Amino acid sequence: MARKNVLITGCSSGIGMALAVKMAKDEQERFKVYATMRNLAKKDPLEEAAGHSLGKTLEIKQLDVCDEQSIKTCVNSIPDRRIDVLVSNAGMGLIGPIECQTIDEMKTVMDTNFFGLVRLLKEILPDMKKRKSGHIVIISSVMGIQGILFNDVYAASKFAVEGFCESLAIQALKFKLQLSLIEPGPVVTEFERKVFEDGMKMDLSAADEETADMFTNIYLKNYKQIFQSLGQSAEEVAEHTVKIILAENPPFRHQTNTLYTPMTTLKYADPNGDLPIDIFYKMVFHHDKIFSASLNFIKLLRWRSRKSFDLGKSSSQ
Ligand SMILES: NC(=O)c1ccc[n+]([C@@H]2O[C@H](COP(=O)([O-])OP(=O)(O)OC[C@H]3O[C@@H](n4cnc5c(N)ncnc54)[C@H](OP(=O)(O)O)[C@@H]3O)[C@@H](O)[C@H]2O)c1
Repeated sequence: MARKNVLITGCSSGIGMALAVKMAKDEQERFKVYATMRNLAKKDPLEEAAGHSLGKTLEIKQLDVCDEQSIKTCVNSIPDRRIDVLVSNAGMGLIGPIECQTIDEMKTVMDTNFFGLVRLLKEILPDMKKRKSGHIVIISSVMGIQGILFNDVYAASKFAVEGFCESLAIQALKFKLQLSLIEPGPVVTEFERKVFEDGMKMDLSAADEETADMFTNIYLKNYKQIFQSLGQSAEEVAEHTVKIILAENPPFRHQTNTLYTPMTTLKYADPNGDLPIDIFYKMVFHHDKIFSASLNFIKLLRWRSRKSFDLGKSSSQ
């Protein structure tokens, strides 16, 4: 099998870095990875993690998804501009009451998460269409199909990505191209840390007392616990993504976190859309103690199963 050229965005940390390293270290050397980041001053951790694959199966390049020229320069630097697999991963979060966010902050999220993908495809899709081959893999989110309290703009940006891809997938099929949306639940990365820190520092003076209290004493209070109980590692998400890239018939959507699937299933269980909203509402405002206890229970179960793996036993033993 010929080696596939893979371009990944947002490789300075998290899922992008884990995926770039995993693919570059593939034992069968099936991939040549172009690991890109907007700020090359942040390349040291990737270089270190890449080890011997650096300069062989992994090259680091500059690419800012908010800058068309930077995308063009990067793609032009790749032999024959050939990208067999594009992984659109770069992204950012935003939490809090919308009264306390500026339109510019919201536009930056849309510009990165949604228009970033559009810019990449405007540059890369025509070549893929000409060759009638290529796989476009997008790191979306469960929030691309279901909104969550105080994630209004982030969810909107991922919904935009999902709508855009659903539409494009029909045309892609005509050109024999594949399109896959990877939908992780919470993942413990820089993203989680940055979003939480920004939430903690947020000026809540524009919000009424009840909203500010809800954000601080319900949302932020549970934030860490949700990531600790349900969170995956970047490496786990990378593993799922590689499986999708290698699949003969890759699915259009793939959720990486089975612990989260019962929540997203609610979306499809009620065509009116009331069920997930009602359940989230009750979980957050009426049954918060049960919700918190369930998260602790899941955390304990996961800790125990990891411990038994560490001891060389399977979790079922
Ligand atoms: N963590 C989660 O809970 C979670 C859950 C579901 C989906 N996701 C999605 O997973 C993707 C990766 O996030 P992560 O969790 O791995 O977070 P992360 O560690 O913060 O990584 C985000 C990456 O995107 C880069 N980036 C941001 N703006 C960019 C731009 N304009 N051009 C190029 N790169 C840019 C960041 O670069 P800098 O270092 O320069 O900022 C960083 O390399 C995102 O699309 C995110 O929405 C994350």
